[in-house]
Amino acid sequence: MSRRNKITIVGAGNVGATAAHWAVQKHLGDVVLVDIVPGFPQGKALDLAESSPVMGFDCKVVGSNGYDETAGSDVVVITAGVPRKKDPVTGKFTSRDELVEINRKIVGAVTREVASRSPDAVLICVSNPLDAMCHVMFEESGFPRERVIGMAGVLDTARYKYFLSEALGVSVDDIHGMVLGGHGDTMVPLPSRTSIAGIPLTELLAKDKIDAIIERTRKGGGEIVGLLGYSGYYAPAAATIAMVESVVRDRKRVLPCAALLKGEYGYDGLYIGVPCVIGKGGVERVIEMQLSAEEKGMLEISAAAVRELVAILPYNKPAT
Ligand code: NAI
Ligand code: 2OP
Repeated sequence: MSRRNKITIVGAGNVGATAAHWAVQKHLGDVVLVDIVPGFPQGKALDLAESSPVMGFDCKVVGSNGYDETAGSDVVVITAGVPRKKDPVTGKFTSRDELVEINRKIVGAVTREVASRSPDAVLICVSNPLDAMCHVMFEESGFPRERVIGMAGVLDTARYKYFLSEALGVSVDDIHGMVLGGHGDTMVPLPSRTSIAGIPLTELLAKDKIDAIIERTRKGGGEIVGLLGYSGYYAPAAATIAMVESVVRDRKRVLPCAALLKGEYGYDGLYIGVPCVIGKGGVERVIEMQLSAEEKGMLEISAAAVRELVAILPYNKPAT
């Protein structure tokens, strides 16, 4: 009898629970939800499992405050941590950078727990600040770089494509393009590489409109925090599940993911969002594409922002 895929999601909050929901709806495998709050992951898991007769999925869903149930997972998604919030008094948002000190301790501890029980898993980081937390997961797991990946580019690209589809009045299915770089306000959308069913975007939309969409994409996370008072989770969870699906079904999709670069794009020892072929082994290939001088300059600004955060981490390895 063939074994079902096992997907662990740590952090049963907004992103984690929503990712579990989509994982079972897509029949991707059995799901273990882990959270530190007693009863919380168990309650989310039971509620989701009780929807199975209505929704018609056979995946098992269990919740736990410990890690023994996670043993032998094929994929582990880490969403544990503190999200961005709006201060009700000052109205100021927590920046991704302010989260580094709090979340590196949480993500480090969680990584050690899951890595020791699932030594062959692909680890997907969601916790913010994303690129810095990928470094924490890489260092604390001891896994090869191929099996420690960050989710941000799929989300940033989804926002970019959605805004373009709205502006052009066309289906989201026909918009092709990518957002590279770190997950922050310096991310790098590539309008020169964006097409609408093969027709260059620059032939269909005026520059000022494209620039406005780029700006909105860069601030996409903050726009949701401004509306809700906490960060978004439908699109982040959907983006995470696109990566999980490509791993467990070995789809070899080309997705913009945070990957540890070893010379690609001229960077060494730095996590940054680049096009990756995602399959059973995690990042099976980083695709290097030609960038214009302007795009390279924007990628360097984004890399510098990531480097600044990585320098705060206690790993003492300068990234270049
Ligand atoms: P949330 O607050 O709804 O959920 C986080 C969960 O982590 C909570 O249930 C909490 O109890 C749990 N947790 C905290 N410490 C833990 C520990 N030591 N062990 C196990 N569980 C623990 O937050 P949400 O909205 O789900 O966001 C989760 C993270 O993902 C945040 O860091 C957020 O900034 C980040 N995020 C990243 C995105 C990206 O594009 N990479 C997009 C959206 C969110
Ligand atoms: C987002 O982009 C908060 O990073 C999170 O929605």
